[in-house]
Amino acid sequence: MSGKVGVIGSYNTGFVVYVERLPIEGETLKGHGFRIEHGGKGSNQAIQAARLGCQTFIIARVGADIFGERAVNKWRVEKIDTTYVVVDRDNPTGAGLVIVGPAGRNMIIVDLGANMHLTKNDVANAVERIRSADVVLAQLEIPFETSLHALKTAEGVKILNPAPALPTPPETLKGINIITPNEVEMAAMAGYTPGEADLVNAAKKYAKHVDNVVVTLGEKGAIVVDKNDVKHVKAPRVNAVDSTGAGDAFNGALATALARGYTVLEAVEYACHAGAFLAARIKGGELVEALPEEKELEKFISEHSF
Ligand code: RIB
Repeated sequence: MSGKVGVIGSYNTGFVVYVERLPIEGETLKGHGFRIEHGGKGSNQAIQAARLGCQTFIIARVGADIFGERAVNKWRVEKIDTTYVVVDRDNPTGAGLVIVGPAGRNMIIVDLGANMHLTKNDVANAVERIRSADVVLAQLEIPFETSLHALKTAEGVKILNPAPALPTPPETLKGINIITPNEVEMAAMAGYTPGEADLVNAAKKYAKHVDNVVVTLGEKGAIVVDKNDVKHVKAPRVNAVDSTGAGDAFNGALATALARGYTVLEAVEYACHAGAFLAARIKGGELVEALPEEKELEKFISEHSF
């Protein structure tokens, strides 16, 4: 295993059911294909880093219920260190209720439960471990101040995946090395309507306070903005089947590549391949099982190099 990655983040159990059309208020519909799946941005990103061969640990909170137990078992199967996972006696494991309609259209309700009770104290208990990581990665399905505290504790590369995004003054992110919003998240952070032409301007404002702003653009790849420059990294062409979780594959792979000493541009290119692999659902099935292993991603990269 090469590279040490620490993830501070969420776990959600997904309850997924498929319907012929989305329901309206007060309606009961017959669905099909019900399944329970592992999810949550923190968990997905940690699993991605571990599958790509990094020594990975997760700091998270789950409920004292069967879903929390399932989460911890899954992380152990994926060889993720769970020493700093807290079992919360007062709040349930995070849950997502997902209704999938035609053409992948969906309705999702998330109750983040125990995730929103992950505290700075939980992070403080793991301070030595956080400092030993080559890369520390956090998202925002846990309290913003907990993510920020964890990143500020870290001594390696600090990445914030600001998802789901909140209005965020750029100066609050000082000290973080890389932020990885998608286009919609960049707009939510900076306070403009997505689609307006000020994506690059917004990214430049944040790049005054962090080393790199990496805005993910789906099938178009990503832009990498620093204090002096704006560079575009292309994504490989694939037949995208479902882009849910592509950002998680991207962030887990970005952390992996940086932990191995890639440059930021090389790491973003590697991460774009992981995101495309996931969106194409090359392994089929549910999101977390579709995240690539190291050898699968290497093969995919060799078949999709530019
Ligand atoms: O990024 C996808 C994830 O976000 C899903 O696994 C779902 O749990 C939501 O948290």
